Amino acid sequence: MAIVNAKEMLLKATKEKYSVGAFNITNIIQMEAVVEAAVEKKAPLIIQTSVAPSKFLKPNVLAAVYRTLAESAPIPICLHLDHCTDVDFCRTCADAGYTNIMIDASKQVYEENIRQTKEVADYCRRAGDISVEGELGTVSGVEDQIKVAEDEAALCDPETAVHFVEETGIDILAPAIGTAHGIYKTANPKLDFDRLKKIFNLFNAEEPKVPLVVHGGTGLKPEVVKKLVALGGSKFNVSTDLKHVLIDSTFEYISANREQYNPGKIDKATKEAIIKRINYWIELLGCAGKA
Ligand code: 13P
Repeated sequence: MAIVNAKEMLLKATKEKYSVGAFNITNIIQMEAVVEAAVEKKAPLIIQTSVAPSKFLKPNVLAAVYRTLAESAPIPICLHLDHCTDVDFCRTCADAGYTNIMIDASKQVYEENIRQTKEVADYCRRAGDISVEGELGTVSGVEDQIKVAEDEAALCDPETAVHFVEETGIDILAPAIGTAHGIYKTANPKLDFDRLKKIFNLFNAEEPKVPLVVHGGTGLKPEVVKKLVALGGSKFNVSTDLKHVLIDSTFEYISANREQYNPGKIDKATKEAIIKRINYWIELLGCAGKA
């Protein structure tokens, strides 16, 4: 039951106004940790790998571990390729067994973004039950967050978003609304909530049709996260936060146990720390008990 693409899971979330945690992982222990936390919380789950760890660990290996974990889990789980700018690698991951693919051609001119995104959407539709996420506007790195947030042209234009989805045939849209990847340099990053609301209404006012993704989850205050969920963000991406948990918990364990040479204990400590953090996100996003 548990191997699913993202679309159905997110249409349900869109309808019921909660968000599914989409957690970036960089190793197998993290993958096990996010699955264990989601099972414990009875939450639907999206496991994400960005391109570098996908290439390093190999798509076939990641998909095989995902299948093994998901098949025996009593919750729906999707394996998502995050921010891939390379159409060929999108195909490789779709062939390997990923169930949601994000082609990110958002830095290209609009026509080229459409062309590449459509190519991936067409391929995934032919390949089987794989949904596709596309991006419109610029979800910046934190270095550029203020610049992008203040530049209307870099954010997702609602009317263009309708055209983009129609032309490409994507299932899920990541609209740039001012969030950024990494640690925000300001306590109150400038986000365009009205824009998210407008885009949500264009697609999902009558019935849920195109789930919306919030990128750049790390560092947002809990009340901001809740507002973004209430306005219709039904996939919520968290990456940097989990890298910090992984590295900090590893460092803390080794510092406190410098005489030990027992990798299993380090793995156990980091896994527990990640589970605790995922529990926090699942509760905040409102997806506990929604599996
Ligand atoms: P953060 O690294 O800011 O959590 O962003 C995650 C993300 O959007 C991945 O696509």
